[in-house]
Amino acid sequence: MRGAMLLLLAALSLASAAAPPCSYLIKAGDTIYALAQTYGLTVDAITAVNQLSNADVLQPGIVIDLPCSGNATSATSVLDLLANRSDLSTLFRAATAAGFADTLADEALVATVFAPNNTAFERLLERVLSNTTLDELLADGQELEELLAYHVVPGEALPAADLTQGLNLTTALDGEFVQVFKPANITRLSTSTGQYVRVLEADLKAGKSVVHITKGVMVPASSGIVLPQPSASCSHTVVEGDTLFGLATEVGSSVAALVDLNPALEADPTKLALGDEVILSADCEV
Ligand SMILES: *[C@@H]1O[C@H](CO)[C@@H](O)[C@H](O)[C@H]1NC(C)=O
Ligand SMILES: *[C@@H]1O[C@H](CO)[C@@H](O)[C@H](O)[C@H]1NC(C)=O
Ligand SMILES: *[C@@H]1O[C@H](CO)[C@@H](O)[C@H](O)[C@H]1NC(C)=O
Ligand SMILES: *[C@@H]1O[C@H](CO)[C@@H](O)[C@H](O)[C@H]1NC(C)=O
Ligand SMILES: *[C@@H]1O[C@H](CO)[C@@H](O)[C@H](O)[C@H]1NC(C)=O
Ligand SMILES: *[C@@H]1O[C@H](CO)[C@@H](O)[C@H](O)[C@H]1NC(C)=O
Repeated sequence: MRGAMLLLLAALSLASAAAPPCSYLIKAGDTIYALAQTYGLTVDAITAVNQLSNADVLQPGIVIDLPCSGNATSATSVLDLLANRSDLSTLFRAATAAGFADTLADEALVATVFAPNNTAFERLLERVLSNTTLDELLADGQELEELLAYHVVPGEALPAADLTQGLNLTTALDGEFVQVFKPANITRLSTSTGQYVRVLEADLKAGKSVVHITKGVMVPASSGIVLPQPSASCSHTVVEGDTLFGLATEVGSSVAALVDLNPALEADPTKLALGDEVILSADCEV
């Protein structure tokens, strides 16, 4: 009886711990011990994922990682959604470092937000910014602010169904637009620097805003950042006689690589239709 009571109490105290977010912004007075209690974690589990020692003082404003399930598809604000996605933890850090945390935490914010996943930031740092480290990027407030502002369309929460071919979107970055490129129903965003960035997971609900996860970080022309020159055409219109194998050979790529760039061809790679738009170089998606 007593044993059963203790088990019940243990179960209740476990149930009362909130699910841990993936990224957590340290507030004044936070300690690892208190966070562990709040989220039903051990101190070791937290220090292990953060290169922290138990004795480290937690500076308000820094971001730490927590072990999390990381698969939220809705949240009450954009910041909450980012906090609860393990694949968007770099964007959470970047948004916080750029001073956008308060804006994105606002549950009343109405916006369409394009959210590059963590791998997208790794590719940007390595291939576009010549192996700049994330810490260096996070320390460059101006550049970071511009990059992130280019991923926000204020005033409208546009689901993927409303992102129609050719639509011109006004971003939060002065004078910079992105245009929807949607051959074969695959949503891409064409940037002012000539990228074709694919939407990987659409329609995540974040309060009154909508978030679409993207494969690349979009680079605005005004940033002055120079992108790698694509090895082949970013948008090729299929003409009589084109085959996927022929195109792959022509640009020194493989059928598998082209299918990866053009998922619409996955079902039947032999089925290239006249007038289809295909992307021929992985650099177009960086
Ligand atoms: C998210 O992950 C948790 C824990 O792994 C799992 O229980 C839950 O079903 C997942 N939710 C979704 C929407 O995939
Ligand atoms: C993360 O998800 C939890 C559980 O759904 C929620 O309570 C919390 O508000 C979300 N955001 C943050 C920042 O923890
Ligand atoms: C980001 O998306 C790419 C393309 O789908 C995927 O290969 C990669 O694993 C994703 N990264 C993360 C951190 O989920
Ligand atoms: C970045 O580092 C990788 C691995 O060390 C190297 O192969 C690559 O050439 C570097 N890229 C640039 C642009 O310097
Ligand atoms: C998008 O719209 C703006 C303002 O109407 C215009 O200046 C710009 O050229 C348009 N971009 C494209 C690619 O149509
Ligand atoms: C395009 O995608 C939308 C939403 O994902 C879907 O409802 C529609 O049926 C698709 N259209 C085609 C032609 O595949």
